[in-house]
Amino acid sequence: MKVLGIETSCDETGVAIYDSERGLLSHKLHSQVDIHAEYGGVVPEIASRDHVRKWVTLTKACAIDAEIELNDLDAVAYTAGPGLAGALFTGAIAGRALAWQLGIRALAVHHMEGHLLAPMLESPAPAFPFICLLVSGGHSQLVKVESVGCYELLGDTLDDAVGEAFDKTAKMLGLGYPGGPALAKAAIDGDAEKFKFPRPMAKSADLNFSFSGLKTAAITAFEKTGRDPAAVNDIAAAFEIAAVEALATKCRKALLQENMKTLVVAGGVAANLRLRALLDQTIQSIDGELYFPRLEFCTDNGAMIAYAGAFRLLEGENSSTEITVRPRWPLDEMTAPSDR
Ligand code: KG4
Ligand code: ZN
Repeated sequence: MKVLGIETSCDETGVAIYDSERGLLSHKLHSQVDIHAEYGGVVPEIASRDHVRKWVTLTKACAIDAEIELNDLDAVAYTAGPGLAGALFTGAIAGRALAWQLGIRALAVHHMEGHLLAPMLESPAPAFPFICLLVSGGHSQLVKVESVGCYELLGDTLDDAVGEAFDKTAKMLGLGYPGGPALAKAAIDGDAEKFKFPRPMAKSADLNFSFSGLKTAAITAFEKTGRDPAAVNDIAAAFEIAAVEALATKCRKALLQENMKTLVVAGGVAANLRLRALLDQTIQSIDGELYFPRLEFCTDNGAMIAYAGAFRLLEGENSSTEITVRPRWPLDEMTAPSDR
């Protein structure tokens, strides 16, 4: 089955073609970073308009790369939530209209399920069951994954998502947008010992996170230096280490609590190299297995949507032909494909 995936939930237009027999055939991404940079963050209306401008060109380019005609497609999968309502609608309308024109099925895909399944595009792929750390701009969750659609939420953030905390701290440090990669880059040249920030929730018995206190500690430390540009890299390094240690501590706790050995990490923050290195150590200490998507499939992309869609479509799943999106859509409301 050849599935076209369309991702338009935020500020990247991602398109990909996944073939259930041959694997990923092609993928294209257009980032809107340059457009939103001058505003210091994503402007929803501008994001929607840009998705509309770009998806046709990207889709044609994907078909050329995959050496197929659009008529060879068996289905279209598009992100229906969570995300920005207007941006989601552009992908939903595009996906449904194309499927209608081609006379094929279209399926609404959950964006975070796409992230969660992105490591399945790699070789070796993780085997079920596993614990997934889902870390993005809007989510910091620990999920017990029995199979596709069987998700138990073990822990969540009580305030800011970790990506959001990276973004806000970076903005305050004058590192601009997008904050996560910018802060990580600044941290490379910083001395993490010069500032000491709390490891949020490290001692709490549950599996929840909290990043707003850490963000405030970094902002306060910067103010105390008189907003000294020379302190930026050191504060970035201290912030990054505190954030990734908080994540690693809870991953270890979740694996031990659930008596599991496999950890999957997905979402934009999974691209953070310090997080990847620390989790590698954590996993080695319990003799477990660690799986990440390749860096480009940590952040938003069409490949994960094509894959997640193909999985469910092969199980016979259909969504109604009504075009709806869900800007808020809890992952644990998902069910196994055969349950529908
Ligand atoms: O998954 P994603 O592309 O979009 C959402 O679904 O939110 O994640 C974007 C988030 C942003 O908060 C971004 O700052 C963060 O992932 N991010 C990073 C890195 N790359 C992206 N955070 C820390 N270090 C990175 N290298
Ligand atoms: Zn995402």
